[in-house]
Amino acid sequence: MASLTSFRGDSYSSRLLATAPNALTNTMKTITVGITGASGSLYAQRLLVHLNASPEVSRIDLVITQAGVRVVSEELGLNVAGTDARVARAFLGEESDKVLVHSPSDIGATVASGSYLSDAMIIVPCSMGSLAAIAHGITRDLVHRAADVMLKEGRPLLLVPRETPFNVIHLENMLKLAQIGAKIIPAMPSFYHLPQTIDDLVEHFVHRLLDHLGVSHKQETRWTGSKPARQRAEAATRGKE
Ligand SMILES: Cc1cc2nc3c(=O)[nH]c(=O)nc-3n(C[C@H](O)[C@H](O)[C@H](O)COP(=O)(O)O)c2cc1C
Repeated sequence: MASLTSFRGDSYSSRLLATAPNALTNTMKTITVGITGASGSLYAQRLLVHLNASPEVSRIDLVITQAGVRVVSEELGLNVAGTDARVARAFLGEESDKVLVHSPSDIGATVASGSYLSDAMIIVPCSMGSLAAIAHGITRDLVHRAADVMLKEGRPLLLVPRETPFNVIHLENMLKLAQIGAKIIPAMPSFYHLPQTIDDLVEHFVHRLLDHLGVSHKQETRWTGSKPARQRAEAATRGKE
């Protein structure tokens, strides 16, 4: 019986560790970032800058689909094809020893296995095509496979879909993914913090993503309750000056 108890104890703690490695050990985080071919590459770039700068993140596994490479080129004018150090440099404006870029066709990469402990995965932006593949367990590339692994291991998977309008297929796929534990965080900027620039919009949204990834940041635009109308009007006017 004693051995059964210790067996149960070991198995339970190792299961917890496998599910949320850093919840128990409080070590630095390993995060997988997938970039697919939906509009909104700027969100991905800003998120990577924050993750790279964070002392709480030790490693970023980055996978960019072929369509993702194309949209990044269209929207940000950056060449992020390939897997060498140039890709991280293009996004971050500097070298990084935290970012490891994997080819989307490399289904033998670390993140393709549940035995590799990734604390969370985020797909930002997430195309309707990748969303559909993940919702149906179809793993045609490393982004889909890594997401499938997060779901099967019960680890955090965050999806940032971008499309408008959504058709019923998109909505059903999002519902299905939410029901099996993925977090759906649509790329919808908010305005209650009175943004004055596109950067304000993007930063506020990226701060929300960091919240969901459990990575600290210095957000100055958290909602602190309604201000009197006069104060709001003054803030809005200040922004227009
Ligand atoms: C400039 C551009 C913008 C696009 N924007 C979106 C979008 O917002 N949402 C979406 O689902 N697909 C969008 N697409 C289409 C996807 O890139 C396409 O469906 C692709 O096959 C997705 O592949 P992936 O999921 O492997 O990245 C866009 C394509 C281009 C070229």
